[in-house]
Amino acid sequence: MRVELEHITKTFGKLRANDDISMTLEGGQIYAILGENGAGKSTLMKILSGYQPADSGRILLDGKEVAFETPADALAYGIGMLHQDPLDVPVLTVLENFALGRREGLLPNRRAARAALADHANRLGFLLNPDAYVDGLTIGERQQLEIVRLLSLGARVLILDEPTTGISAEQKDTLFKSLKRLVADEGLTVILVSHKLEDVEALCSHVYVLRQGKVVGQQAMPCSTDRLVALMFGQSIERTPRPPIERGPLVLSVQNLSIPGRRLVVRNLNLDVHAGEVIGLAGLDGSGQNAFLRACAGLQPPTEGRIVLVGQDVTRCGYHEMVRRGVAYAPAGRLEEGLVAGLTLTEHFALAMPGGAWVNWKAAQQQAEKRIAHYNIRGRPESLIQTLSGGNQQRTLLALLPSDLKLLLMENPTRGLDVESARWVWTQLLDRRAQGTAIIFMSPDLDEIMEYSDRIVVFFGGQATLVDDPAQTSVSQLGQLIGGKAV
Ligand SMILES: Nc1ncnc2c1ncn2[C@@H]1O[C@H](COP(=O)(O)OP(=O)(O)O)[C@@H](O)[C@H]1O
Ligand SMILES: [Mg+2]
Repeated sequence: MRVELEHITKTFGKLRANDDISMTLEGGQIYAILGENGAGKSTLMKILSGYQPADSGRILLDGKEVAFETPADALAYGIGMLHQDPLDVPVLTVLENFALGRREGLLPNRRAARAALADHANRLGFLLNPDAYVDGLTIGERQQLEIVRLLSLGARVLILDEPTTGISAEQKDTLFKSLKRLVADEGLTVILVSHKLEDVEALCSHVYVLRQGKVVGQQAMPCSTDRLVALMFGQSIERTPRPPIERGPLVLSVQNLSIPGRRLVVRNLNLDVHAGEVIGLAGLDGSGQNAFLRACAGLQPPTEGRIVLVGQDVTRCGYHEMVRRGVAYAPAGRLEEGLVAGLTLTEHFALAMPGGAWVNWKAAQQQAEKRIAHYNIRGRPESLIQTLSGGNQQRTLLALLPSDLKLLLMENPTRGLDVESARWVWTQLLDRRAQGTAIIFMSPDLDEIMEYSDRIVVFFGGQATLVDDPAQTSVSQLGQLIGGKAV
């Protein structure tokens, strides 16, 4: 079955998650939709599989326009999607989950369902115990179950959204083998959504690259890693020159630092950061930049080396001690780590205020009103934080930071923001830089890194390379470092 997407556009508020996307996917092939986090991949695939409508654009299957109202509609046309987060029902058994969504009802005939499950699982090389409860399964097994279920319901186009996150190497191997077999033997179309180059290279025959909601390139596979990196990160916007900074005194000195991680270890990192400097951390997702930020924030103890903050050894200091010493850390997951769903703006400002055991609510309320006005937050003191838009949550996070910071550590400061909010955030950050705060930030957006960094550290596989003069460095040179060349 040929799938054509024509001019698909989807906005969330001012954010264009999909911006006029067109692509053609032939049957019997494995396609990759490649792009960094936030590029718009999941949004597009949810539209194709009936989970959400597009604002505009068309979907054609074998040349005929179709419209899906629900995932069941899409599946009736043969399009099934395996989601980033599993949608199965944990309190049911494997067999019961398998039988879900069938027209005949939940359990038409246990024996027939059991046989069908065994049949599909065998065909794919999956080992699934029909009587196991789903909440006892690994993510990889839940995934296998969902694939079997989608195929048994007639999926001819199988969409897998970041399927290799959280599964074992062995499960990944099994998954890739079975997908190849499905395509070769049965002519299915597979669409692999991923931000991992290695997965795309291992599996796909054609790749579409998304960036900021747009298709920025496509490429038949195999091709060189360089080429893929160039597609992911290339075509930089014009950079506006910034006034040179006065490098202040040394704020942070990182010496021979090694940090253990879940998958990789950051090794032997050295970096000096001065007051009023902005350091951008670049790299593919999970290359060590995150572990480094967290180590500087006192959230992840290093195994070797030293961290010195304005002349004092803080290597063994925990998060709260770092905060006391003038370090702030702003995580990417605003609601997960920095802000607390269920609390109002006033309550957030109350928590951020110094004080004893009792909260001075009157002062907190005044503080909230003042900061809301100053940071142009669209919300009221009594608004619950989760009801604010992403841009306003990010403004709140910035408003909560103390004003006399020595070091500000930020994960993806503008993730999910529209252009205008992103620019506003950077205006605030550059103000702080002018006041002498040293800023270290990571971003999947190379334009952002190039635009705002005084120096750049590129991470690849836990190795860091320092780029001293971004203005003299081309995007493709940076891309090479990000892709692991010349390290
Ligand atoms: N339901 C939603 N409401 C608001 N914003 C959303 C929603 N879904 C996605 N977004 C935003 O759209 C952008 C693209 O998201 P997504 O398609 O999930 O990207 P990807 O899958 O490539 O990481 C992101 O900035 C994300 O925050
Ligand atoms: Mg996604």
